[in-house]
Amino acid sequence: MHYPQEVIEEVRSGNDIVDVIGGYVALKNRGGNFFGLCPFHNERTPSFSVSSDKQMYYCFGCGAGGNVISFIMQLENYDFLDALKFLADKIHYVLPQPQQSQATEAKLRTRDILREIHKKAARFYYETLQSDAEEAKIARNYLDARGINLKLRTSFGLGLSLANWDGLYKNLQKHGFNLSDMVESGLIRTNPRGRSYDRFRGRLMFPILDVDSHVVGFGGRVMDQNEPKYLNSPETPLFDKSRQLYGVHTARKAKQKDIVMVEGYMDVLSLHQAGYSQAVGILGTALTAHHGRLLKRINCNSVTLLFDKDRAGVQAVLRAIPVLIEAGFKVKCLQVTGDAKDPDDFLRMYGSARFGQLLEEAKSHIAFRIDLLTKKYDLQNTDQRIIFTQEAAGVLAGVDNAIEADVYIRETAKHSGISPQAIRTEMDKQRGRYFSQYPAPRDRPKLRYNLRGKTNEQGLLDARKGILSLLLAYPDVSRKMREFLSPEEIGNATEMKLLELAYKNSEKGIAITPAEVIAQFEELETQKQIAELLKDDLHFDNPETMEKSINEMWKIIKRAWLKNRIAELEQTNDQIDLNMINTLGKALRNLEKQYITVTNG
Ligand code: GTP
Ligand code: MN
Repeated sequence: MHYPQEVIEEVRSGNDIVDVIGGYVALKNRGGNFFGLCPFHNERTPSFSVSSDKQMYYCFGCGAGGNVISFIMQLENYDFLDALKFLADKIHYVLPQPQQSQATEAKLRTRDILREIHKKAARFYYETLQSDAEEAKIARNYLDARGINLKLRTSFGLGLSLANWDGLYKNLQKHGFNLSDMVESGLIRTNPRGRSYDRFRGRLMFPILDVDSHVVGFGGRVMDQNEPKYLNSPETPLFDKSRQLYGVHTARKAKQKDIVMVEGYMDVLSLHQAGYSQAVGILGTALTAHHGRLLKRINCNSVTLLFDKDRAGVQAVLRAIPVLIEAGFKVKCLQVTGDAKDPDDFLRMYGSARFGQLLEEAKSHIAFRIDLLTKKYDLQNTDQRIIFTQEAAGVLAGVDNAIEADVYIRETAKHSGISPQAIRTEMDKQRGRYFSQYPAPRDRPKLRYNLRGKTNEQGLLDARKGILSLLLAYPDVSRKMREFLSPEEIGNATEMKLLELAYKNSEKGIAITPAEVIAQFEELETQKQIAELLKDDLHFDNPETMEKSINEMWKIIKRAWLKNRIAELEQTNDQIDLNMINTLGKALRNLEKQYITVTNG
């Protein structure tokens, strides 16, 4: 079901955002923008802003944002079409009969083909693992050594990609798939000389299945010390790692309300083998609201986070907690004990009986965070004890349940030697601040670069955001940038689409308004990300500063992209790619000397 963009635009522009939101939230005009108390999180001072010019809203407290359609989606919990109907009714606009657009049909067709390719590929890798090839024997020995039994290998469809460069390519060819579909699947790549080769080579293959048991991607692990240890499928129309969880299809069948979430493929396998089929794994990325929704789909309501014991694991747990809470889950946290660094280690070292005990001991996320604080501070020291109490009160401020809060307050008092009453006072003081302390997390894709060069991740994200908001606002500049920056160089799928949009509009010479940009996307989460991107006004003192900053941003993006491509090619070890690596290397060196003129002066 789909409406033409003109219809969406008609409904959107017919509903002034200030009027609509004003019907729900008391808004005060402050210097051209309207402010009020955010309806999406608890706050005492207004951080929710509505811009009449941009026809969008943005909350500086929780990051909620979008256009008038997003607002209704978010407030009424409607999907895109329902929100559109609601707004159409408001202005007595009769929506035409929705049709499945050609674009939608094409999308569905592509999806089916990509699913078929993945299914064939999974079978091919699976059969390779059972074959007589010397590499297959090594792989089977590796699995034996890691204690993964035959039953599990079958139920998870583990496979092997050989080191030869086009085993899968030839197999898919034999099945009659065409090259462009193979390339879109992410499993086959082509080099500029037109040669095609497999993405995964010489790796143990873990098929990633979606909640309906379609193979949507793969993870591949080296069996030696090579880097990177794991390689995942790239983002494709089927696969987005911020929406998938490893093992979710079996966890669904387990029908358990309480999911155990771990970090690695091997952890999931070990847990399943030990009888814990409610285990799912995140795929080397941060936990997102999409993951939360996926877990809701399989009817679970409680999540035990069991990540690696290292610093990165603890950080990831702390970031995952607010995401899950916001998605409505009961959250528990757990760490493996003894010499084990992850659940797989633990099971191998101490067995499943002790693992069962460990799981029983999972603490609520509150207790877990307080625990971390007791380890962080020296409670014998008066100053540190005070800081500990303040931070602990900050954590406790998030507990709604009075009885639960009381238990933790007593415990904290015991640890710190500070009276429960004092902790409670501090807690109340911090209550107002709690929500802004945990702004809604953004679904930012995490980029990994294998090069030694230090790519500043945040700098790159900022450059991508900056250049997009600039190119959307200035069609003239956009027209010039076209030949220097292509959509696939910029980042994730949304950003690619935004860049394409900027280029498309630059042909027409129109600057598209923020609300219109947002209206191109139907997912609330995406709308929110774009609102975040477009909320700031661009100010440049003169055209030269603008040009300079474009050049800076462009170089950051291009440099990262080139380095990433080179790293990927180096990884394939093909003689054939050497030329390409050289060409890209040259482009990388030349980049520093380049300067793009975008102004007319
Ligand atoms: P084993 O060494 O096989 O036990 O793997 P592990 O699962 O314990 O690995 P680790 O704790 O190092 O990483 C946890 C998860 O992060 C993995 O399962 C992968 O999903 C992801 N990951 C780890 N290393 C890489 C990498 O080099 N590249 C990518 N893309 N993901 C990685
Ligand atoms: Mn491990």
